Amino acid sequence: RIVPVILAGGQGTRLWPMSRAARPKQFLPLTGAQSLFQQTLARVADGQVYTPAIIITNADYRFIVAEQASEMGAPLAGVLLEPVARNTAVAIAAAAVYARNTFGPDAVLLVLPSDHDVTVDAGYLQAVQQAAIAAAEGRLVTFGIVPAAPETGYGYIKAGAGLGEGVSAVERFVEKPDLVRAEQMLADGGYLWNSGMFMIGAEAFLAECAALSPETLAAASGAVEAARIDLDFVRLDEAAFATAPNISVDYAIFEKTSRAAVVAVSFGWSDLGSWDAVWKAQEHDAAGNAGSGAVTFSNTSNSLVVTDHAHVAIEGLDDIAVIASEDAIYVGKLSEAQKVGPLVKLLRAGK
Ligand code: GDD
Ligand code: MG
Repeated sequence: RIVPVILAGGQGTRLWPMSRAARPKQFLPLTGAQSLFQQTLARVADGQVYTPAIIITNADYRFIVAEQASEMGAPLAGVLLEPVARNTAVAIAAAAVYARNTFGPDAVLLVLPSDHDVTVDAGYLQAVQQAAIAAAEGRLVTFGIVPAAPETGYGYIKAGAGLGEGVSAVERFVEKPDLVRAEQMLADGGYLWNSGMFMIGAEAFLAECAALSPETLAAASGAVEAARIDLDFVRLDEAAFATAPNISVDYAIFEKTSRAAVVAVSFGWSDLGSWDAVWKAQEHDAAGNAGSGAVTFSNTSNSLVVTDHAHVAIEGLDDIAVIASEDAIYVGKLSEAQKVGPLVKLLRAGK
């Protein structure tokens, strides 16, 4: 069976003010009754295909994770707690060490972000099976999405020679290009977006860590070996974990490895990275408005309202996002929702 590893430690700043350090976007019900983290658990609930999941998250989120998993009745193979945030390379490495200890060296891991909107269909299930076969053969498998625009927030994958049913070698992996480079890659063709989901053999991944980022492997191994059990949680050792370089798995491993492979997929996928992506993932009325909570649209089009408590009424506007949390309200152009990121930086600087 495939071992699901769910990454649930990110902060999701571009969905401010709903996504906050204390309750980031993966724990919010952005596209339905369940949170994105719960929807991720639901995707790996089939006990024929998957073992119970390993969750890796920041220690601050341990009670949200435990509560939301128990609401789902989802059995877990372990909730690993990071004492400090060091990005995804060491998070995945720690989960791989833990999985190897728990399930043996041949364990094949499906590493999933906890904050994406994914449609499970026949194509999805086929892609997972194809990726699992390649991963069992030692490949580090990515899932590639046909790109729709020159986004700079994604990794780009150039597929190379075919390796097997649905699987190609990765010729090049470019994490978060600048706009000029992204436009160039779209014009060249043959590139896919990295979905951020990975299928990896525990042993193969750790071997690549040893070769490409030994500090990451040392920190992860040390943190798991000296971990402390606390209630239902596995507290990773702080002294060891804190030595990890703060780097994502994309930069540390996937840009460098020669073992990468890609399965091109066609299932519905959105990383819900910004409010316009949330708008796209929701149902709209005839004027293109979407909203949740107490909302009234009048002579308004192409707009999004998300509100916790206050009743929001908009008259005579187009392309507006109004996000009203209990203690903060954001108003801006929906089409420029990417600018929430820099705005949050201003707020953090006390401006
Ligand atoms: N446990 C843990 N610890 N999880 C983390 C941490 C951490 O320190 N940092 C981020 N995560 C989680 C996030 O919650 C998210 O589910 C996932 O790891 C990916 O992190 P992001 O910070 O969202 O990465 P990204 O969106 O900038 O880029 C990645 O995803 C893109 C697709 O959405 C890359 O893999 C890109 O190549 C990819 O295109
Ligand atoms: Mg992301």
